[in-house]
Amino acid sequence: MKMLVVLGSPRKNGNSETLARKVAEAVEKSGGAVEYIRLNDLNMRPCQGCGGCEKSGNCVLNDDLTPIFQQVDDADRLVLVSPVYFYGLSAQCKIFGDRFQSRWARRYLLKERFGEGKGRKGYLISTAATVGPKIFDCSILTARYIYDAMDVEYAGELLVKGVDKRKAVLEAPDEMARAEQFGRDIVEGRL
Ligand SMILES: Cc1cc2nc3c(=O)[nH]c(=O)nc-3n(C[C@H](O)[C@H](O)[C@H](O)COP(=O)(O)O)c2cc1C
Repeated sequence: MKMLVVLGSPRKNGNSETLARKVAEAVEKSGGAVEYIRLNDLNMRPCQGCGGCEKSGNCVLNDDLTPIFQQVDDADRLVLVSPVYFYGLSAQCKIFGDRFQSRWARRYLLKERFGEGKGRKGYLISTAATVGPKIFDCSILTARYIYDAMDVEYAGELLVKGVDKRKAVLEAPDEMARAEQFGRDIVEGRL
């Protein structure tokens, strides 16, 4: 199993990253490979809505995201990791996701399927300070449609509410156990 973890928080070792590393441990323990991308370290421009990708299926921008399209295509498990920022994904995740408009163009305009039959699956890990019933709704919808553009099946989410300060999630052993189980479920094919 080759897992690509896309860290979307600007906060190093924060709540979402801590959960993601716990999930990825299960993959490493089973002999799989895990790669991490920290979006906040990348020089990436937002989608310009220029339509350039509609003919070629490639983004016209050339920056740190350029090689990452292939890295995403090569992974068989993808994990998008984001804190909730104003009821949605972090800006870093949104920039990353919007640039996959070029993959959307390949899939829906150029009618190319690049993930079909490969069993590639994508997940969302997210954390939020508050506990409202709709706190993750926006992020889930956005993640689902980013994965759809990537031709990756959306296969589930690990969501933790009520965590705010940097390592708060470490003080919630039940949530860390849930993360460990989420990793095992991925490795053992239940997710
Ligand atoms: C700019 C910003 C916006 C935020 N917006 C929300 C929000 O709308 N709802 C919420 O419950 N928490 C919000 N939070 C809190 C974070 O989601 C929370 O602290 C989360 O656990 C941080 O994850 P991290 O440690 O991985 O960065 C916000 C934090 C920041 C910095």
